[in-house]
Formats: sequence, C-alpha cells, structure tokens
Amino acid sequence: MEIVLGIESSCDETAAALVRADRTVLAQHIASQDDAHRPYGGVVPEIAARAHAERLTPLIEATLADAGMALGDVDAIAATAGPGLIGGVMVGLVTAKALAMASDKPLLAINHLEGHALSPRLADPSLEFPYLLLLVSGGHCQLLLVQGAGRYRRLATTIDDALGEAFDKSAKLLGLGYPGGPAIERLALEGDPQAVSLPRPLMHSKEPHFSFAGLKSAVLRAKEAQMPPPIMLQGCVSGRVVPVAGKPAYSDADIAASFQQAAIDCLIDRTRRALGVAGPVNALVVAGGVAANKAIRAALEALASEHDLRFVAPPVALCTDNAAMIAWAGIERLSLGQSDPLDFVARPRWPLDPDAAPARGAGVKA
Ligand code: KG4
Ligand code: ZN
Repeated sequence: MEIVLGIESSCDETAAALVRADRTVLAQHIASQDDAHRPYGGVVPEIAARAHAERLTPLIEATLADAGMALGDVDAIAATAGPGLIGGVMVGLVTAKALAMASDKPLLAINHLEGHALSPRLADPSLEFPYLLLLVSGGHCQLLLVQGAGRYRRLATTIDDALGEAFDKSAKLLGLGYPGGPAIERLALEGDPQAVSLPRPLMHSKEPHFSFAGLKSAVLRAKEAQMPPPIMLQGCVSGRVVPVAGKPAYSDADIAASFQQAAIDCLIDRTRRALGVAGPVNALVVAGGVAANKAIRAALEALASEHDLRFVAPPVALCTDNAAMIAWAGIERLSLGQSDPLDFVARPRWPLDPDAAPARGAGVKA
C-alpha cells in the first residue's frame, strides 16, 4: 500500500507527514511560526521563508524517524507548489524535488487548496464525490463543487478579503493576539451577537460571491464609537466645566460576537444559494483554517440538515495548515496515475477552477 511523504510550507506552518493509502497518518510534525510573526500582527513573508528553510529538513527527518522509515520506503513525495507566499512555497517544493531526485520517486506538486478540498476525505472514508465545499482560510473564501481530485467548479469566491483575513484584521483592531480567528471565537463566547449592528455585505444579492472588507471596516467604526462622547459636568468646587467619560456602549466581546454573527449570516446565505445551483451533492463540507470555528460549524450543520444533507467537517487539526492533507492529495492523485515533472514551477496564484470567470469587483485574491 502506497505511502506518501507530504510537505507544507505555503504560509506560516512548516509541516511534514507520512500518510498511507488506507488513510493512516503514520507520523507528522508541524512547526508553527506564530511567535515569530506575532509582533507584526500578521505573517511576514521574508521571516516565514527563512523559518521554513531552517526547519523543514529536521522536521522531515523527525517524521521519517517517528515512523521508523527511510526515504527509500516512501512511494512518492508531495509538496505544496502554490498558491501561497512564494518564498516558503519554493523552500518546500525545492526540498521535495531534491528528495524525489535522490530517491528516484515520483514528485507530486500539490495545489494547497486541493489539500484543503480533499482533507475531509482523509478523515472520512465514506465521503464520496461530488460534494459542495465551503473553503474558508486565511487567503481564500470559496464555494466549490468538488467532482473529483483535480475536478472543481468554483461557484463563488470573495471579491475582496478572505474570511480568515477579516477575522485576523478585526482581531488586530480589537487588540487581540495573532492569529486572530481563535481569539475572536473565544472572546465572542462572552459577548452579545446582537449588541452591535454590523453590515452583511452581498447578503441576498444575486451575485454568488462573498465580500468581507466592509464588515472589517465596520468593526473599526464600531470600536471607534464604543465610547460615548464625554458628558460635560460643571465642577461643584471649581465651577469649571469638566468632561466625564461615560460607560462604553458595548464591550469588545460584543463587537467580536457581532462580527462573528455577521460573518456567519453571510456564509449561510451564500452557501444556501450555492446549494440551490450546485445540482445533486452527497454532502455539505467545510474545510480550511476558519473551519476550526465551532459557531461556523454549527450554523453550517443546521443548514445541511435543513436540506437533508450530510455535513462533514474534518477534525480541527486537519482544518488548519498541515502536511497530512498534502500527502493525502498526493495519494488521491497517485491513484489516478498522476505525477509531476521535476521542473514544475512554484505558483504564487493557482486557482482550483481555471475556467471560473473572474468575480466582478474582485481583487488579486480572487
Ligand atoms: O488554512 P489556514 O491554516 O491557512 C491558510 O491557508 O490561510 O487558515 C488560517 C486562518 C487564519 O486567518 C486564522 O485566523 C483562521 O484560519 N482561523 C480561524 C479559527 N482558527 C483559525 N478563524 C476563525 N475561528 C477559528 N477558530
Ligand atoms: Zn491553508
């Protein structure tokens, strides 16, 4: 049974994993760079690329050692070849090429988004194509009809910010740590989702797409308006008029909860619309880093049951960036007889559906 070594280095996680075709993850290591990027409130590409270069080889060695294997026992090497921060992608891809050349094993240049898109099938052997996938990560927000490995039809994408990006930027505005998604989710538990009125961009629109930039800006305005203007009181001794600060109109937790609820309302509205045009599907599936969010999962699960559909969400560790999903995408492609040449060029942009029309108003991330 085939065993694939997977390598992931497209953003701020350096990861290696060994996965067998029966879906067993034999070993895996993930080195997060959160601490290195935290002072900047976001991922710094140059710092990320250097960290990948320093950590990747020892991580691969540790993964092989944990599984009690040598490179010669592996059937193929799969690495993220894009889309992502190009310096990091090149570190992973060049390493994979060197290992493939040295061991004379096939190379699989994996689209990182395909890793996310197929990750639910690694966790759940009963998940059959086709399924409707909501792919929500730090760089993407898309609805995809997944018809098979390598066969994707994009039904919607964001025309501006990705959802994870909106979580991260809103968290920064609230002075929360990086990464912002988990911090907002935690704080939202203490807040009232109705306390702050925030927009739901493109909700009920005939356009299939998402938009989150306006929501993020509304969080900024809500934060600025949180403190009511000071009340001017006449000092009883001095007789002077002095400003006295009032109580905040709402808490940061209220802003976080209201932001999360607005994002969920948009996701559900757009996903409901996509279910109406996707044709028959076996399941509603969510993947990508933002899929770790429990409130988002619960809302999607309710939507699926409204449509008598199965809902599938991979375990949280498979949602955020990892190498097991890259190895698994490699296994799926290997089973179709596919592999890639050693001169495969890393791609900073790489849409899953090359035929998708550009979204009207979309920026570079579409
Ligand atoms: O898929 P991923 O690990 O990396 C990319 O390929 O982008 O996604 C990272 C994103 C970050 O924006 C992070 O804030 C977000 O996923 N995220 C979350 C949660 N956990 C991670 N967003 C909302 N709620 C969470 N619990
Ligand atoms: Zn990702």
